[in-house]
Amino acid sequence: MKKLIIASMLILLAGTLAGQQPGTASISNRPQDQLVTVSTANTHLIYRVSGRDGRLYQAYLGKKLSSPDAILQSRTRELQAYPGYGAGSLFEPAIRITHNDGNPSLDLIYRGYTTDKPDANRTNMHIMLSDTIYNVNVTLHITAFSKEDVIEQWTEIVHNEAKPVTIFLYASSMLNFDAGSYWLAQFHGDWAEEMKSVETQLTSGIKIIDTKLGTRAHMYQTPVFMLSLNGKAGENEGDVVAGTLGWSGNFQFMFEIDELNTLRIRSGINPFASEYMLYPRKSFKTPSFIFTFSSTGKGAASRNLHAWARNYGLLDGNGQRMTLLNNWETTYFDFNEQKLAGLLDDTKKMGLDVFLLDDGWFANKYPRNNDMAGLGDWQENKAKLPNGLGYLVKEADAKGVKFGIWIEPEMVNPKSELYEKHPEWVLKFPNRQEVYYRNQLVLDLSNPEVMDFVYSTVDGMLTKYPGIAFIKWDCNSMIMNPYSAYLKDRQSHLYVDYVNNLYSVLEKLRKKYPRLPVMLCSGGGGRVDYGALKYFTEFWASDNTDPLERIYIQWGYSYFFPSVSVCNHITSWGKQSLKFRTDVAMMGKMGYDIQVNELNEKELKFSQDAIANYRRLSEVIWKGDLYRLVSPYESDRAVLMYVNESKTKAVLFAYTLNARYGETFGKVRLQGLDPAKTYRIQEINIFSEARRMGPPDSGRSYSGDYLMKIGINAGSPTPLTSAVYEISE
Ligand code: DGJ
Repeated sequence: MKKLIIASMLILLAGTLAGQQPGTASISNRPQDQLVTVSTANTHLIYRVSGRDGRLYQAYLGKKLSSPDAILQSRTRELQAYPGYGAGSLFEPAIRITHNDGNPSLDLIYRGYTTDKPDANRTNMHIMLSDTIYNVNVTLHITAFSKEDVIEQWTEIVHNEAKPVTIFLYASSMLNFDAGSYWLAQFHGDWAEEMKSVETQLTSGIKIIDTKLGTRAHMYQTPVFMLSLNGKAGENEGDVVAGTLGWSGNFQFMFEIDELNTLRIRSGINPFASEYMLYPRKSFKTPSFIFTFSSTGKGAASRNLHAWARNYGLLDGNGQRMTLLNNWETTYFDFNEQKLAGLLDDTKKMGLDVFLLDDGWFANKYPRNNDMAGLGDWQENKAKLPNGLGYLVKEADAKGVKFGIWIEPEMVNPKSELYEKHPEWVLKFPNRQEVYYRNQLVLDLSNPEVMDFVYSTVDGMLTKYPGIAFIKWDCNSMIMNPYSAYLKDRQSHLYVDYVNNLYSVLEKLRKKYPRLPVMLCSGGGGRVDYGALKYFTEFWASDNTDPLERIYIQWGYSYFFPSVSVCNHITSWGKQSLKFRTDVAMMGKMGYDIQVNELNEKELKFSQDAIANYRRLSEVIWKGDLYRLVSPYESDRAVLMYVNESKTKAVLFAYTLNARYGETFGKVRLQGLDPAKTYRIQEINIFSEARRMGPPDSGRSYSGDYLMKIGINAGSPTPLTSAVYEISE
């Protein structure tokens, strides 16, 4: 039940203090000031409503204060919480709008707030702002997740002018910081190079991280960052803000340091080519900016986000996951019914749950035998699958495994029946040559007919074959031709409408198929964000499955996404041992994409045992607390561990990447254990006794105190070797 706790109206006072920059508030002892406080278990985000000018200022963001009211006496310089262009802020605004009379300014005044509590852990707050002259209302929505120490922010804009207004900029969040220095860790990449991490000090001026790709929008930049205050934070020390935008399209993070070294972080949809015509009384809702503040380093920030994601951000985040055998890297487009029946047998033989049939199973007039044709024609290819998908579903059932299928329903090859039938459904300029990425084009999801097509493609398949137990939803192209025949004179709505309509389709599918596991894929990790992940159970992290590369990629994702969501497959990419490949995949959601029939007896037995180990330990790996112990960015090895909530079980992964001649590795101190408990260390996933990593510690028992203060020898200094330890009370 929504409960109105406070609603306050303020008398508006005009005026600027002499010598003070417009849009800032300062100085103490204004009894008419009022605080609006957002709190989680360990964090305060405090706004001050200025009695002087009625505006909302951000007064504090950081470690929880014992008496927040002290802020009323504060002498720090405060910046507006959500500054409008043309009304005070000389720096980047949060919102920019042009009114019916052409006036481009917006001066937002605080009007009050309401709060409600959906449950004991969550508090929703809705802070109402409106312009002093124009009938424009802006609501700052904030959800505080207490236990997880996470705050979600989004904005809603409504107006009551006679005609539509144009909004040029509409941030989800604006946060302000007043620290000595700021260090930004960003995560960028490309196809097969996702989540490379770089950390640099921010300097005066603006730094922007953004994307303009439209779809497959995160191929070069993932919408995540970690900001350390007053020096680089470590895993266990330092003030850190970890932020991410839940938006599967063009996003922008703007970091601006002004002349007084104050930092503004604006997060939201990229305003690039996206001015939006907003009709009277229609509401414009921004995506959510999700962040956590940690005063104990990056490790805690990640654990906060993981816990939040499992509880709120990821579909079925606390549920079970199935292990897969995928055929992409083993067959590509070259398969037939017989080959697939063999792969169903292999799935069973390995002890895996699902066989996932990838790209290439559809289209007849222009068969999908490579990536040049067929996309959009979602009928089984008769030459490859004469008995249709139904046969495979039935065969899978008979063999005691499940069947899953790949689709890419937002895309079309020009060489397809769909394109021939509906050229008007395709994003392309009417008067220019089409530009292709991977020989394909993007369907125009701003068009409701296309939304129906995408919905019914998926729904039709699931209705016809209710036995389909898993879907991989791919998206391989960016918007190369940003023009919609449907949108006519509203072309600048395209990037926003596309994503919102994609979410509507997914929402509708989820109403009908609430629990079906679906993997989010975009040519690897080209679309990884919490806007999409509430409809998906997991995501494909990268097409690069070389385990050495993969350690860095998975390490990067681990800052923001829980291991239960990160799909890692054991493939033949890379020359490393099967054990190394297996141990690397096991740190997340493990699966396979290998020729099972090429495994020798020993390899098969090793894999079956590893899968059984994984099943036994998956609760700890998926839902335990992650501790990154040794970073591959700082060392020749990578070591991490997961600890379950009751601290009775942990799993430690140690990977040796490289080693100099004669190099030895010191002991690794464990984290997250109970100092008073005694733990037995047991190496698992042993390929052969002779090649065992053999730490003298395996088989021994130590106290948690010993393990966290002295540690163990984890792994050997031989390059490209690995060890996995089960640590049990
Ligand atoms: C890109 C994906 O990342 C791959 O795993 C595979 O599904 C191909 N698309 C299929 O075309």
